[in-house]
Amino acid sequence: MKQLILKTLPKAKLSKDDFEVLEVDKPKIESGEVLIRNILLSIDAANRSWMQGRTYRDAVRAGDVMPTYAIAEVVESNDSQFNQGQIVSGESNWSEFTAVKGSAIIKRPNVGSLSNLLSIYGIAGLTAYHGLTKVGHIKPGETVLISAAAGSVGILAGQIAKAMGCLVVGLAGTDEKCKRLKDEFRFDDCINYKNVDLLKELKKACPDGVDVYFDNVGGQILEIVLFRMNMKGRIVCCGAVSQYDGTTPIGPRNLPGLLIVKRLKMEGFIVMDYAKEHGNAIKHLSEMNAAGDIKITEDITEGLENAPDALIGLLNGDNFGKRMVRVTVDP
Ligand SMILES: NC(=O)c1ccc[n+]([C@@H]2O[C@H](COP(=O)([O-])OP(=O)(O)OC[C@H]3O[C@@H](n4cnc5c(N)ncnc54)[C@H](OP(=O)(O)O)[C@@H]3O)[C@@H](O)[C@H]2O)c1
Repeated sequence: MKQLILKTLPKAKLSKDDFEVLEVDKPKIESGEVLIRNILLSIDAANRSWMQGRTYRDAVRAGDVMPTYAIAEVVESNDSQFNQGQIVSGESNWSEFTAVKGSAIIKRPNVGSLSNLLSIYGIAGLTAYHGLTKVGHIKPGETVLISAAAGSVGILAGQIAKAMGCLVVGLAGTDEKCKRLKDEFRFDDCINYKNVDLLKELKKACPDGVDVYFDNVGGQILEIVLFRMNMKGRIVCCGAVSQYDGTTPIGPRNLPGLLIVKRLKMEGFIVMDYAKEHGNAIKHLSEMNAAGDIKITEDITEGLENAPDALIGLLNGDNFGKRMVRVTVDP
């Protein structure tokens, strides 16, 4: 079978040369393990941050098969909880087949389109939902600003906040992305953050200030947004994609000053913190989808060997919606 390893740890921007395709034997499973056939690999900005050191998971080292979250089908099982043919999700890797511990995967419903288990009903949808409701505590009428708004989390966060009665403004890296977010995804406004005076544009797009900032990017954008936050505003620290693909982190310089003056709350979270609430979130997300409030957008790259391009492209802002790699067709 084919698999991709991270051959070298990137020193600056990630490049295709950092990866290598190998032809290896299919793994054999031991007691308690399950052999899965990967169907869809989630491609996430966080994949790059794992190369920088330990985060909420172990660091990826040179020579490792590139890890990922995946949707897969059980082909062989030494765990009585799993049978051949079941659809599962969990930590896997950039391979055609992977041996995983039964305890590391969960059964998933064989929904019409398995890609939905990575987008609206996967980490992206759950992160957007919990981030807005459990961390941001959004209320109808508030102004919610979302960075990386055309990314997998941002595009769902914007639609959820709109469905909950907020004024929604996005930040995205191209005019085309901004146009689509406004025309097709119910964003009230969107700013292409590149080559503009962002503070000036924020004043126009958020005339009453920002109550909740759903921050996917960190860095200089966060620094500028802090100036536009309202008293008692909340900053949902979801991610820091502007800091992942390089070596020198740039943090906001106006902390903690502005937090104090404006009595702001800034809170980080990891989606699994709210695992007990996933069932409720999925029910609510499917109701919003059925009501036409949430449109699902997926950005699927075909072929395992194209996974490096898919990740590098995502870090450069090529994706619109949830990016994933299809290794094989849905069974
Ligand atoms: N806390 C959690 O549990 C959790 C769970 C999932 C994801 N996350 C985090 O949430 C964030 C968003 O993830 P995602 O999956 O929605 O993103 P995504 O689909 O991976 O999209 C990433 C987007 O970020 C934008 N971007 C890249 N470099 C940037 C920069 N320097 N400044 C501003 N924007 C930049 C690009 O769009 P533009 O064209 O707009 O630049 C790119 O399309 C990531 O930081 C991720 O790590 C957190």
